[in-house]
Amino acid sequence: TEPFTIAVDGPAAAGKGTISKAVAEHFGFAHLDTGLLYRAVGAKYLLGMDPAAAARALTAGDIEGSNLRGPEVAQAASKVAVVSEVRAALLDFQRSFARRAGGAVLDGRDIGTVICPQAEAKLFITARAEVRAQRRFSELVASGSMTSPEQVLADVRERDARDQNRAESPLKPAPDAMVIDTSDMSIKEAIHAAIAAVRSRR
Ligand code: C5P
Repeated sequence: TEPFTIAVDGPAAAGKGTISKAVAEHFGFAHLDTGLLYRAVGAKYLLGMDPAAAARALTAGDIEGSNLRGPEVAQAASKVAVVSEVRAALLDFQRSFARRAGGAVLDGRDIGTVICPQAEAKLFITARAEVRAQRRFSELVASGSMTSPEQVLADVRERDARDQNRAESPLKPAPDAMVIDTSDMSIKEAIHAAIAAVRSRR
């Protein structure tokens, strides 16, 4: 089959990951969560490594670490993500993944705008900050974290601001992206909306 790339972007905790996984399964495509690349670099930075060197030396083993999901690593990821050498080091891997035979779904912040501007289908998944923070709070509590809704909302807003205001590859919808606001949708509704949007481009 021809390569077919689905680019999925949006702010933290809007439902991108869940939706991308389901869309990839539906179409039988491979899925890459590009946030994990930045999280892996962020985790090395927290250990004292230079972010650009960490990004250049990144291996598959680094992104399989299950300790990449926490809020400290998320903040560190968004800090190393402003460094242009970090973004450059991760570019080729993402682009080759996108063009693999059989189709690919990539989710992140700059997939439709910078990594895969030629993607056949682009989705921008968003939701109100309060809704995203509430969802992330429930996940964190379920996984045993001690935090408050206020703290999670502050974290989400801080990361949004850093991702939207950086000079290189800021978070924004591509001009040809189909925007899906999941604030008032169930997970099932959001997945259906995303699949329908992709189908309209196939
Ligand atoms: O998606 P996730 O929350 O795992 O991403 C962690 C951080 O990595 C984001 O806040 C963002 O700063 C950065 N990132 C990025 N470009 C991507 C994916 C993630 O800058 N394509």
